[in-house]
Amino acid sequence: MYVLLARNAGFCAGVRKAVKIAEEAAEEPDKWFSLGPLVHNDEVVNYFRQKGIEPVDMLERIGEQPAGIIIRSHGTSPEVIKQAQELGLEVRDATCVLVKKIHEIVTRLRGEDYDIVVFGDARHPEVEGILGWCGQRASVVASADEVGYLPVMPKVALISQTTRDEKEFQKVAGALSNKCRELKVFNTICSATRSRQEAARELCRKVDLMLVIGDLKSSNTRTLSKECQNTGVRTFQIQKASEIKPEWLDGVSKIGITAGASTPDWIIKEVLDRMTLYEEEKMLDENQETNQET
Ligand code: F3S
Repeated sequence: MYVLLARNAGFCAGVRKAVKIAEEAAEEPDKWFSLGPLVHNDEVVNYFRQKGIEPVDMLERIGEQPAGIIIRSHGTSPEVIKQAQELGLEVRDATCVLVKKIHEIVTRLRGEDYDIVVFGDARHPEVEGILGWCGQRASVVASADEVGYLPVMPKVALISQTTRDEKEFQKVAGALSNKCRELKVFNTICSATRSRQEAARELCRKVDLMLVIGDLKSSNTRTLSKECQNTGVRTFQIQKASEIKPEWLDGVSKIGITAGASTPDWIIKEVLDRMTLYEEEKMLDENQETNQET
């Protein structure tokens, strides 16, 4: 059995930056919190919890103590940063530069009187943060079909959550062009997301089965999984090695492995090790069967 790892898989630059900031904060005497889980991966969040960094969903939960807050790579709204400063918290901003770029784009467009349409998941923290920079005139659509519910607007600017599917983004842009006189399109899907999707699709052409490693809450991992399924290759999304079911591998000769941008290297390694172990167990079983026959 061959096991092939996608050429782009695992932590992206934005997540690496957030992890580095958290590692440094964990060394300090003051108590540090992250606003929401640092990354969408429970294993990473638990690792930092053990080092003293607690995720909180609301700043008020921090209470009266000298403390700091880490803004994760998804970013947040300007109101939340202001609130943290008013509460006397030290703020370390781990917002990914590519998400920051979106904040800059929408801030400028807001001043130019555009209605802003965000392609993404309205409940995702990145999108919630972006909306905070957009002002009042912003809507979120999760698909091209949802564009049908929007009113006709004179000037529209379209941006995307960084981890969305490229093809659907183009469909949304097409549908929006019938809803306005002027449309500006900013493809803000990040290159790490794009390169992981391209590498996964390429790998799907060479294998019988794909394993996509990443937390179920991770938007980019779910998109990656969907992209692999769309190629027609049997695909399973797993969060860790222990979730692999041996029966998935029956009759499979080539397995492809990829991982979302919030999946740490140590989980990818565990999965690769599990594959090796499975192969050794299989060979052992086959040898025993042969010995019994002779
Ligand atoms: Fe940034 Fe893209 Fe990662 S937006 S956090 S580099 S998935």
